[in-house]
Amino acid sequence: MLRFRIYKKHKIPDLSLYDNILIGGPVWGQSISNPIRRFLQDANLTGKKVSAFWTFYDHDEYYDRDMDKVVAEKGASYIHGLAMPRSLVRNTDKLKIEIDAWLKKMM
Ligand SMILES: Cc1cc2nc3c(=O)[nH]c(=O)nc-3n(C[C@H](O)[C@H](O)[C@H](O)COP(=O)(O)O)c2cc1C
Repeated sequence: MLRFRIYKKHKIPDLSLYDNILIGGPVWGQSISNPIRRFLQDANLTGKKVSAFWTFYDHDEYYDRDMDKVVAEKGASYIHGLAMPRSLVRNTDKLKIEIDAWLKKMM
């Protein structure tokens, strides 16, 4: 309920200013969390290039697949995202390399 109230207080920024949208959030139930699903539902992503990064402990089996599906339904193109398990977040050297490689895919 608290998360819902916080979300309702914040408007989605004007995305028409941007070509590329990066969406970060936690994994819930091996997939997209409810607040991020709500954002995807409400945001105008038509014609955008979208990618995602997500944090989790050890199971994210459906995240990238579900992002791809939802983003396509919103009329945007999806660039495969960056999975950030705890083991990677704790290894800053490896994390930096993976972030650089992921961002290159957006270019
Ligand atoms: C409702 C809920 C469901 C979650 N489901 C998963 C899951 O399926 N797989 C997983 O690896 N982590 C899961 N998590 C852990 C979150 O991904 C994790 O809390 C988040 O990445 C933030 O990391 P932190 O808790 O270390 O701050 C879940 C957390 C919550 C609150």
